[in-house]
This record gives sequence, structure tokens and C-alpha cells, in this order.
Amino acid sequence: MITTILGIETSCDDTAAAIVENGYILSNKIAGQEVHKWYGGVIPELASRAHQQNIIPVVEQALDEAGKTKDINAVAFTRGPGLMGALLVGTSFAKGLSLALNIPLIEVNHLHAHILSNFIIKKDENKNLPEFPFLCLLVSGGHTQLVIVSDYLETELIGQSLDDAAGEAFDKCAKVVGLPYPGGPFIDNYAKNGDPGAYNFSKPGIKNYDFSFSGLKTAFLYFIRDRIKEDREFISNNLNNICASIQNSIITVLLDKLIKASEEKGIKEIAIAGGVSANSELRRRIISEGVKRHWNVHIPEFEYSTDNAAMIAVTGYYKYLGRIYSNQDVTPSARLKI
Ligand code: KG4
Ligand code: ZN
Repeated sequence: MITTILGIETSCDDTAAAIVENGYILSNKIAGQEVHKWYGGVIPELASRAHQQNIIPVVEQALDEAGKTKDINAVAFTRGPGLMGALLVGTSFAKGLSLALNIPLIEVNHLHAHILSNFIIKKDENKNLPEFPFLCLLVSGGHTQLVIVSDYLETELIGQSLDDAAGEAFDKCAKVVGLPYPGGPFIDNYAKNGDPGAYNFSKPGIKNYDFSFSGLKTAFLYFIRDRIKEDREFISNNLNNICASIQNSIITVLLDKLIKASEEKGIKEIAIAGGVSANSELRRRIISEGVKRHWNVHIPEFEYSTDNAAMIAVTGYYKYLGRIYSNQDVTPSARLKI
């Protein structure tokens, strides 16, 4: 039997559609929104309008590349968390398509989907997939969480950020030194030629498996402000070292908690997910910790780390197998939790 799922993602500023067949990815299309770059952050109203313009072409591209027309078994969409107006576009589109084709409608939690991005594979790909239970460090622009995943649809949140997310810390620190939005990838790039030990920022003393990044962000802001008083060219003369040092601090906070959770929960099957998992230094350090600690490390490919619809389609596929469908009265939820 062939099971084909169309996934739709519109939670923030990327309009995306993907096709998954029997658990394998056939196509993954995305339309980014350049317009927000001018404002230093995502403008919700502009995001909704761009989703409305992009959604039909993106879905058509995903269907075309997969060689599909109307022969899909279900439509999965992001119900939340995210921007309400943005979510409404994907939700309404998915509802309409489900009614028109008379196929099941499947709501997907964006955070859950980021975690399952570790299960995205092509048909003949020989990939080492996570075994249950595994521990996932989910690091995106809006969330920083530690989750124990005991099955495709069973997750337990054991820790999370009490304030800013790791991605937010990257983006806000990038803004302080004048880098464009989103700043995470820029910090990653400049850091490649910098010394991670050049400057030290104090680490938060948060208990359990929770995180905090607002103190680090403020310490960074004051540090830059004070140095600029002494040397007006401080940022431009030291950008590589500044980026390498703040990146190093953020990653150390993340890894310290991941190591603690792995040791205390006795789980050596480790995965990362979310936009920040695209960070090259985080990837390198998690792999090297994994070698030292005999972890089995899972990292999504770059195109599946940041927002995408392949992860929505894969999660939709596993919900479809469990016949977990939504009704037409489902509404988006901006603050949906895992
Ligand atoms: O998962 P995602 O695409 O969207 C949300 O669900 O939030 O994550 C976006 C976040 C942004 O904060 C962005 O700066 C960060 O991921 N990010 C990175 C890198 N690529 C994306 N942060 C650090 N290094 C990167 N290479
Ligand atoms: Zn995301």
C-alpha cells in the first residue's frame, strides 16, 4: 500500500510544502521571505501576506517534483506554535484541500516536527536513525528544550529555557554588533576565524535541566558598550573573536545541560533539532562529545534543521499510521506546547 502525505509549514517566515511517501521524502520546497531583512526581525503582518502569495506555488512545486497530482492520502499542517496570522494561512489552506479532496486533515506541532526531522530519509538512503528512547536538544528561534522521545508520538519535556531561546540569544547578540537578521548564521560564519576563548561571559546558574540566556545576552550588551567607549572600532577590529566567544558561551550552556541529562537519565542516544542545530560549531562539539561519551549522535541535514515542511509531512505520516486526524473545526494555536 502506498501512503502519500502532503506537509504544509507556515509558522513563521518560510512558506514550505513537502511530500512524504511511506515515510520517505520525495520533495521539499520552501519560499523564504526576504522582506523581513529590512526590519531586523519578522513582521507578522508581512509574513501572513507573503504566505498567502507563496502557498499555492510552493505546494504545486512540491507536488510536481514528487510526480503527484491529486493522489495524496492526507494533508498535514503546522497548527502551532508560531505567528497567528501566519499559521492561519497554512491551516485554512490545509482545511480547504482536505475538504476538496476528501482526505484526512492532520494537525502537527511544529516542535514535535523539529524533533522528528531526525527521521527524514530518502528512499535508498542508508541513514542511522535514532532508536527509542532518545534525548533531543531542540534549539530553535523560539524554543530551547530537552525532550525524551520514547516513540514517534511520545515525548516528555524535561527542561526548557526560562527566558530567551538559544536562537534568540544568537539573533539578539548579532544585532548588538550590527549583523543582519537572523544573526545566527552570521555569527557562525565570523566565528570560524575567531578565538572562542578571547572573551569570557559568565554562565547562568540555573538548576535542573532548564536554561537561561537573558543574563548572557545582557552581559554581552554591556561588554560591547564598555569596550566601544574605549575603542570606537572595537567591533570591526574584533568581530571574529567576538562572534567566536559568544557562540562558545551559548554552546557550552547547551552542552552542559545535555551532558547532565544524558548522564542522569542514562540515555546515550542523542539527537539535536531546530534552526540552531545548523550551527557548525554546535555540530562539531556534539560529535566530539559523542565520541568521548560513547553517544550515538543524530543531526538533521542542514535543509531539515531550519524550518521546513519535510518534518511536517514526516510527523503527519506517523500520525496517519495511528489514525490521529483533526476535525474541520481545528484552529491554530500560537502558543502550542510540546
Ligand atoms: O527552527 P528555526 O528555523 O525557526 C524557529 O522555529 O524558530 O530556527 C531559527 C533560528 C534563528 O534564531 C536563527 O538565527 C538560528 O535558528 N540559526 C542559527 C544558524 N542557522 C539558523 N543559529 C546559529 N548558527 C546557525 N548556523
Ligand atoms: Zn522551527
